[in-house]
Amino acid sequence: MNQDEMKQKVAEAALEYVVPGTIIGVGTGSTANKFIEALGSIKDQIKGAVASSEATARGLRDQGIKVFDLNDVSGTLSVYVDGADEFDEEKNLTKGGGGALTREKIVAAASDKFICIVDETKKVGFLGDFPLPIEVIPMSRELIAREVVKLGGRPVLREGFITDNGNEILDVHDLRITDPKGLEAQLNHLPGVVTNGLFALRCADVVLMATPNGVVCIE
Ligand code: 5RP
Repeated sequence: MNQDEMKQKVAEAALEYVVPGTIIGVGTGSTANKFIEALGSIKDQIKGAVASSEATARGLRDQGIKVFDLNDVSGTLSVYVDGADEFDEEKNLTKGGGGALTREKIVAAASDKFICIVDETKKVGFLGDFPLPIEVIPMSRELIAREVVKLGGRPVLREGFITDNGNEILDVHDLRITDPKGLEAQLNHLPGVVTNGLFALRCADVVLMATPNGVVCIE
């Protein structure tokens, strides 16, 4: 089974976590896109979805799924389904490879349960091999880059990329993240940081990991 087929399998497996009659949160990326397609097959069972990016909102509408603004939803979303760039054994994640980290973090925070859908290539001992994205207010970019260097990171501006929120992304290389919660909080305190791609303070509740032999559920 190749990586694309594994993404398909894990996306289909996540349908089991969809709570009928509710509004769910939907993530961004190639694995989330496969989930959106699969969700189309049971669209009549849900009220609709909150999207974590403009691209996801378009994908959901293409499937005939109603897209809600989070501000128009009273209470929490039943479940949030999204991919990740890396995960560790405690279900901490690095996200934001697709640049949607801020809205992803908002929708995850608004959800009762976070189901992370990945293939086995995303599993790591320590987060940090995948460059850590930080969404920054453009005028603060160089200030934040200097602070990140002090922490041992090598920030690289994601050239030609503007987020759905009108901001820029610094991808931070060379980090070996031994304290994901601490680093998440520390980076988020730097003035000008919108958020960073560590999902440790609100990690996944369940990781569904596709392998060539099937989908493994990590709870
Ligand atoms: C987008 C994300 C994605 O979840 C992450 O990049 C994984 O993407 P893919 O499923 O394409 O590997 O965080 O901002």
